Amino acid sequence: LQPGLLAFALGYLLGAIPFGLVLTRLAGKGDIRAVGSGNIGATNVLRTGSKGLAAATLLLDALKGAAAVWIAASLWPDGGRFAAAGALIGHLYPVWLRFRGGKGVATLLGVLLPLLPVAAAIYAAIWIAMLLVIRVSSVAGMAAAVSAPVIAAVTGRSELVPMLAVFAVLVIWKHKENLARLRAGTEPRVGRTAR
Ligand code: G3P
Repeated sequence: LQPGLLAFALGYLLGAIPFGLVLTRLAGKGDIRAVGSGNIGATNVLRTGSKGLAAATLLLDALKGAAAVWIAASLWPDGGRFAAAGALIGHLYPVWLRFRGGKGVATLLGVLLPLLPVAAAIYAAIWIAMLLVIRVSSVAGMAAAVSAPVIAAVTGRSELVPMLAVFAVLVIWKHKENLARLRAGTEPRVGRTAR
């Protein structure tokens, strides 16, 4: 088997672990997919009322992406990039959930951390700043995702630009319901209930 394929598969398996779903279930909160936006991400976990569970979901969804890249990069030269793609796609389209996964904002931050730390720092700064100012998680996440290929371009890491541009498009695509709610003026601010 090709190293790239193995790295992608490793990333996919880690990325496809739906921490938001697992943690809320373990905590006796029922199925997170029946709450708020129905998403399995940290923002929606926060809508169960538990800040701790939301923080843990955010951390673990990011860590699985970072771990995938770290492990693959130590096993195969160039493995990191394939694992990054696998982890993000695994999170967005997990086979265990009939390919209905999350929206990728935390996992994208995680894969950026080892791949391009400066982009991860700016991504996190944009995300946090926009969350604090406008308090709409989807907009903050999409803006952060778009920043990643831009940072890669301006820091001379042009080999990462196409992949990060595809990642940004995927993250925005997964936010299509949020975009519809934003247009309708019904997108909730952080901490409120969606739908
Ligand atoms: O990371 C997901 C966030 O951008 C939107 O989540 O639950 O508001 O659709 P949600």
